[in-house]
Amino acid sequence: MERDDVPCDDDSEFDSPRTIHTIVSSLHAYGHTVHLVEATDELPRWFLTHAVDLVFNIAEGTHGEHRESQVPAILESLNIPYTGSHSITLALALDKAKTKQILASEGIPTPPWQVFFTPTAPLHKRLEFPLIVKPNREGSSKGIWRESVVGREASLRRQLERIVERYRQEALVEEFIDGRELTVGVIGEEALPILELDFSPCRASGEFFYSWRMKEFQGDASMGLAPALHCPARLDAATSVRVQGIALRAHRALGCADFSRTDIRLRADGTPFVLEVNPLPGLSPLDSNFPVMTAAAGLSHEALIQRIVELAMARYAQDACSHVRERGGTVRPQEPSTSNALAVSRSAP
Ligand SMILES: Nc1ncnc2c1ncn2[C@@H]1O[C@H](COP(=O)(O)OP(=O)(O)O)[C@@H](O)[C@H]1O
Ligand SMILES: [Mg+2]
Repeated sequence: MERDDVPCDDDSEFDSPRTIHTIVSSLHAYGHTVHLVEATDELPRWFLTHAVDLVFNIAEGTHGEHRESQVPAILESLNIPYTGSHSITLALALDKAKTKQILASEGIPTPPWQVFFTPTAPLHKRLEFPLIVKPNREGSSKGIWRESVVGREASLRRQLERIVERYRQEALVEEFIDGRELTVGVIGEEALPILELDFSPCRASGEFFYSWRMKEFQGDASMGLAPALHCPARLDAATSVRVQGIALRAHRALGCADFSRTDIRLRADGTPFVLEVNPLPGLSPLDSNFPVMTAAAGLSHEALIQRIVELAMARYAQDACSHVRERGGTVRPQEPSTSNALAVSRSAP
């Protein structure tokens, strides 16, 4: 813990060497040649001197409010195909308030909210306590602690000050939705079995939702931070279909490609509130939630990674076909190859 009990979370969003190694092994399993490329200032130069067919993008970017879109933007400018969502989606999804504006405009339920650019701005009368205070442009529950859920004005102001001071950005304040915690993966155009995270076994730890501590130490029973995971979620069939439908709509509203994971809180009256859309969800078979859902759908980690490759290749092949068609040429159908050279691009921690 640092001064003011604020934990050091600088590296929370980066993939561990073990996760990267697992993705590389899964790519090898399908016969791909893989080059590991670090997302540093040297990245554009590397691609000018090496030819690859596809980049398997897992880069979180290095800095700034649009960091997840940096590597995709470079690849777009160099005309190099890559897996997953485009730069515009990655930049948008990193801004929770902008994401919520899009969701709301599509009629997708999201908790009522207000953005605070200064900690002293007046609170909208329509917002009802308890509220949750989060940094608007972080992930991995950075800046989300149990004290982030506030029941009155004084604690709201304290949290706003902490967020604005520590993260140097606006704070997002939302009504706290008391209900089941769900996350829903989408791959291709299909929703995966829903994952439910039940935090009731963690009560003694004092953590009661998916806070930074809960994520950082998830599974550590000695700290009391071992939530119960249920996949598929303990929901009736009609509710599951409704929640999956909401995740698919959120995926499309943000323009996600290939795969995404949408975080949802299901209120007791059955309304699924979308908290955020993750177009670049973690793919670690050890500690990420997305592979839990693909495993429940019967996909091994190797098959999951290959599916993402195939989805991306098919997308680019289709784009190429439509360009040829636009110019009045003939189109030869192209099978996605399984022996391409792939560059796995990772972020610099
Ligand atoms: N409005 C809310 N109501 C209830 N819980 C929330 C709300 N917003 C966030 N949370 C809790 O905080 C966690 C992290 O919030 P989220 O918006 O998904 O940010 P991150 O990008 O850091 O994952 C959620 O998974 C949930 O447990
Ligand atoms: Mg989340």
